[in-house]
Amino acid sequence: MADDHPADRVECLLKDAADRSARYLRDVRERKVVPAPHALRRLSALRSPLPSQGEPADQVLALLDDIGSPATVASAGGRYYGLVIGGALPATVAASWLATAWDQNAVFRWTSPICATLEDVALAWLGEIFELPAGFGGAFVSGASMATMSALASARHVLLARSGWNVEARGLFGAPELRVVVGEEVHISVLKALALLGMGSERVIRAPVDGQGRIRPEALPPLDERTIVCIQAGNVNTGSFDPAGAICSKAHEAGAWVHVDGAFGLWAKAAPMRRTLVSGFEEADSWATDGHKWLNVPYDSGLVFVRRAIDLRAAMAANAAYLAEGVDGDREPSHYTPELSRRGRAIEIWAALRSLGRDGLADLVDSSCRHARHFAAGLRASGFEVLNDVVLNQVLVSFGSAEVTRATIARIQADGVCWCGGTVWQGRTAMRISVSGWATTSRDVELSLASIAGAAAQAQGAAAE
Ligand SMILES: Cc1ncc(COP(=O)(O)O)c(C=O)c1O
Repeated sequence: MADDHPADRVECLLKDAADRSARYLRDVRERKVVPAPHALRRLSALRSPLPSQGEPADQVLALLDDIGSPATVASAGGRYYGLVIGGALPATVAASWLATAWDQNAVFRWTSPICATLEDVALAWLGEIFELPAGFGGAFVSGASMATMSALASARHVLLARSGWNVEARGLFGAPELRVVVGEEVHISVLKALALLGMGSERVIRAPVDGQGRIRPEALPPLDERTIVCIQAGNVNTGSFDPAGAICSKAHEAGAWVHVDGAFGLWAKAAPMRRTLVSGFEEADSWATDGHKWLNVPYDSGLVFVRRAIDLRAAMAANAAYLAEGVDGDREPSHYTPELSRRGRAIEIWAALRSLGRDGLADLVDSSCRHARHFAAGLRASGFEVLNDVVLNQVLVSFGSAEVTRATIARIQADGVCWCGGTVWQGRTAMRISVSGWATTSRDVELSLASIAGAAAQAQGAAAE
């Protein structure tokens, strides 16, 4: 008889993992959003020395579930409104499990024909959703930060190539100078990308913005063929959109490149009722967005698109004799990404889009926006000041003084019915509510509003004492 192979025991293990995951996802909707103090204390049980002898996989899984599951933040439930966090759609969780079993390296078509095919399909669908130009190129990266970095690397390539400078070969030492224009309310990830690319996070020219954080096109500095203009589809605080049409016209007249940070806001293109917010963004030269935010696929999943595929490829391609080229002119995934080996992120993107369809995707976006408006109406009805025009899925609220607002946020977080974070918006301390997940319901909003009102009353009472 053949020897027992460890792979034969995998079925039981995966069924156990499925049971534990299903239980987690059922319970996560009802538990407090933050882990209980005793769950956090139990994490110390994991701080053991590296064991000399291994343990059976089922025991490892049981330990992970026993200690780990209660110590998670319940961002997969319906009441987590911090940062911009989605919560994976069921189809994407299941697809991700299968993909993990496949354990494909998405680097080349020949290392994973299925991953390369799903990239082709998903890119075509995404091109339709975002109204991208014919001939665009795209890639599946770890998040919007890496997408922005990849897009800006393309911009750097193109703008310097115009001056006969090959930046990939010669670097930036002695290169003609590029200028980068950003709005006053630029997201930190754009500055980080510029820093990583050697273009300097402090050398940017900041264009003035209005009260919602939108660049004022009439106040843009002079632009030229060595300028990159970074605009936003969805400000992380207000959800506002820069006037892309006006900025793109001005920039393109001057020969400048326009990059869009659309980490979550670009998905408004998928919802016919919101599309006017995003009109004009299709005229840009490059775009960064996330899968793991509003498309609700598991982390880590971002998307970069560049108007001409060859411009992304020029900045990303690497070759070596042992890395055989693709055949028949098929797109080779790694020619468009900063990484070589990586997981097949397109699998979950494809599963999300296939399971939602065009209508489901529009509903996902619209329902988040509806819940955000529900929040804003409830907060105003309780006498609180909503600081932004709630055009998308973001709400900014003040509970009075900075001190009372901060105290209210702390009480909300401790109460654990929901989780919201703080921010400072144009000098005012505020609380952010970002509704980005499929799992949020009207009941979640009502429960959260009650918790928020209670916390604010306590904070105001404590401040009055
Ligand atoms: C507007 C905006 N841009 C970029 C990012 C960075 O995205 P990621 O964390 O996926 O890199 C975020 C994250 O919240 C964002 O809101």
